[in-house]
Order: sequence, then structure tokens, then C-alpha cells
Amino acid sequence: MRFFIDSADVNEVRELAKSGLVDGVTTNPSLIAKEIKKSSAMADKGSGGYIHTRIGELCALLDGPVSAEVTATDFPEMYKEGKSLAKIAKNVAVKVPLTESGLRCCHALSLEGIDVNVTLCFSSAQALLAAKSGARFVSPFIGRLDDIGHDGLQLIEEILELYSHYKFSTEVLVASVRNIGHVIASARMGAPIATLPPKVFRALYKHPLTDSGLAAFLSDWRESKQSIL
Ligand code: G3P
Repeated sequence: MRFFIDSADVNEVRELAKSGLVDGVTTNPSLIAKEIKKSSAMADKGSGGYIHTRIGELCALLDGPVSAEVTATDFPEMYKEGKSLAKIAKNVAVKVPLTESGLRCCHALSLEGIDVNVTLCFSSAQALLAAKSGARFVSPFIGRLDDIGHDGLQLIEEILELYSHYKFSTEVLVASVRNIGHVIASARMGAPIATLPPKVFRALYKHPLTDSGLAAFLSDWRESKQSIL
């Protein structure tokens, strides 16, 4: 399974990428807005310049895809924005919402060889349309489905089964991941990619028995060193 980091925080992604385990990055307008709030750079650059700068920095950190989302909602503007985002770096994947205009934009950009990540997918029907529109990635939001009492993981299972019957090149990018259980269950289903908030990525390393086991090893080692001396 490939791991993407769901964050627009350049320093955080840089740190996590040092692990060698990070295969890509996803951002969205909310994550970019969070970074804008932290930064004073906005004042002189304007939001457009800020987004391009941040996405450029993220793209330079790794070879894998970095999703950058359009904010327009009508096809002409969305297409223009998508083209402009795609020019930032060769590893940009343009993110579009799963709407009629978004899928039209996905189709147009995909025909030009631009990678598109179709986001805000909440049903198998939507995932089918995204694949037929030529999406490189489809992002089903499992945590948000869980939030309203649905089963997000069941959607992943359905989409994987559905895609297995066809020769789509679209990959399922499990998104809105909230915990390790989401990651492992998706991996057991064979989902190719999950995008993880930094907190969930770091949690993957953890087990209390690793911590207590290591503490015991080190304490035994220190004691034995003292008896030798
Ligand atoms: O990649 C999509 C993701 O950012 C949405 O996550 O936690 O806001 O539902 P969340």
C-alpha cells in the first residue's frame, strides 16, 4: 500500500518524508487555508501566489503525486485553474470535486495527459463515473461517511470490487482516514493508496509492547554494563 500524507504543512511533510515511506501528498482548500492562517506571506503574495508557492514546495519534497485542488465550481474556470496548477510541477495531480463540472474537467485534463484526483466521492456510482472520466485517482471519504452513521470501509470494498471487473486505470485513494483501523482494513482489501493525516501516519509505528519491551531491554543492558565495570 502506498501512503500519501494529507497535509499542506511543508515542514511536517518534509519531516515525515525522511522516513522514506511517503509516496505522495494530498491537499485540499481547508488544509491550505489552515496554512494561510499560520503564515504572514499571504499579505504580499495573495492567495493564488501562496497556493502555487506551497504546492511547488511540496512537489519538490518527493517524486510522488501532490494533489492540488481547484476552487472554481464552473467548468471553464475549473479547467483554467487545473491547467495552471498542473504547470507548477510535473508531479502535480489536479484535484477536482465529484460534480458534473468536476468530471467534465477531469475528462478534459486527463485527455491532455494531466493526472486528476477526483475528490469528495461518497458512493460507488460516483466512483464509476470518476473512472469513466479518466481519473488517475478517486478519493472516497470514509471518515465522513462513518460520521453520518454509514460504513466508509464498505464503500472501499464496493469500489474495489466494481473496478476489478474493468480495465480502468483509476486507483482508489482512501481518504478522510481517521485511525489505524481504517488503514489496516483498507490494506486488507487491497486498496492501493491511503492518504493519512500526519497523526495517523505516526500512530502506525506505535505499539505499547514495543515501548515497554525496549524500556526493559535498555534497563537490562544498563544493569549488565554496571556489573561488568
Ligand atoms: O483527503 C481528504 C481529507 O482531507 C478529508 O479528511 O478528516 O477532513 O474528513 P477529513
